Amino acid sequence: MNEVVIRGALRYGEGDPVDVLVADGVIAEIGERGSLGAGDAAEVIEADGMVLLPGFVDLHTHLREPGREDTETIESGSAAAAIGGYTAVFAMANTDPVADNAVVVEHVWRRGRETGLVDVHPVGAVTVGLEGKRLAEMGTMAGSAAGVRVFSDDGHCVADPLLMRRALEYSTALGVLVAQHAEEPRLTSGAQAHEGERAARLGYAGWPASAEESIVARDCVLARHAGARLHVCHVSTTGTVDVLGWAKGLGIAVSAEVTPHHLLLTDERLASFDPVNKVNPPLRAEADVERMRVALAEGVIDCVATDHAPHAEQDKDCEWAAARPGMLGLQTALSIVVATMVRTGLLDWRGVARVMSERPAEIAGLPDQGRPLEVGEPANLALVDPDAEWTVHGPELASISANTPYEGMRLPAVVSATLLRGRITAREGKIG
Ligand code: DOR
Ligand code: ZN
Repeated sequence: MNEVVIRGALRYGEGDPVDVLVADGVIAEIGERGSLGAGDAAEVIEADGMVLLPGFVDLHTHLREPGREDTETIESGSAAAAIGGYTAVFAMANTDPVADNAVVVEHVWRRGRETGLVDVHPVGAVTVGLEGKRLAEMGTMAGSAAGVRVFSDDGHCVADPLLMRRALEYSTALGVLVAQHAEEPRLTSGAQAHEGERAARLGYAGWPASAEESIVARDCVLARHAGARLHVCHVSTTGTVDVLGWAKGLGIAVSAEVTPHHLLLTDERLASFDPVNKVNPPLRAEADVERMRVALAEGVIDCVATDHAPHAEQDKDCEWAAARPGMLGLQTALSIVVATMVRTGLLDWRGVARVMSERPAEIAGLPDQGRPLEVGEPANLALVDPDAEWTVHGPELASISANTPYEGMRLPAVVSATLLRGRITAREGKIG
């Protein structure tokens, strides 16, 4: 029998400790601490002092398969996700070949199922080859076995306003979501770092905040016009928060995510010249980071998404201009959220459940993720030790790549166990 008893955990870090019996993939029973004995076949997780949360949902992951299996595979990325407390991830379409057709999205979906560590939902490209010229066959991907429900050209912006308008119109008809990588390419041509004093001093061409803000403003207007929903990837500037607040105030159906690195790191890191800090959108100024935190706490930014972006050593261990943008995120996301949002008093554990699990599940329309911790609900769970700490070592992470910007840092909170439909997928930093 596939039964697990979680003993003595605090649901959402609140109230009295409880025992939770998980059986047949659902939460079968909840009782006070000490009330549920371990049945003969039951596995017991001792969870005194631990926080029980719904499993995390990542709207923005790069798994690199097909095409760059030297940097990450669906299997290695799924392992990193499970160890990080995730039970569902959305795999971005900028693979090689691009996930712009039913064959590729079905491949990703099938490999995710075979691996079985986390639900892998392929994101479909909005335009053919991510080239921003012709719409991809969104309907075919949505109707495929993969059931694609999120579309994005992430890595690239759908810059042509007419194409974006059409994509939003189709998305409404299909009941799916378009997620925009907001970057007006005419304003970021040649850009290497956040446009500001630090980039200027070091001689890097700047990536201005307005390149993000102008696209977000435009797309909010287009979404209203099309009667569509819009999701904004990796928000990074104060001005974007202003635009989102304005759009939400008008009732425009826009949602937004922020990455852990934009909640913690600033362009002060440029001084190291280490390309591990190169990411798109770039690390911004202190005022932006502060605003990201407040906007996430207040709900102007809906959720956290990792933008987990594995890269090979040769694409990172090189001069800044030649390096690829992106950093690992799946295994460190919770700890960074705890460091920046919980330890600062901006979010409690209920808030963590909201931004890491409930909101992303709602935004993507996943009926069985981000559910309440109640009897009868699917047992997609993350069990967190809030007082433990750990030290990040890139080579020890489950990812094939090691490009973490947190190398050597001591971080708060450890994911003690992850359960996917009642099955333990990760335990104390290891699979299953
Ligand atoms: O830093 C980034 N890396 N930003 C993106 O938009 C794409 C991603 C990648 O694919 O490496
Ligand atoms: Zn992006």
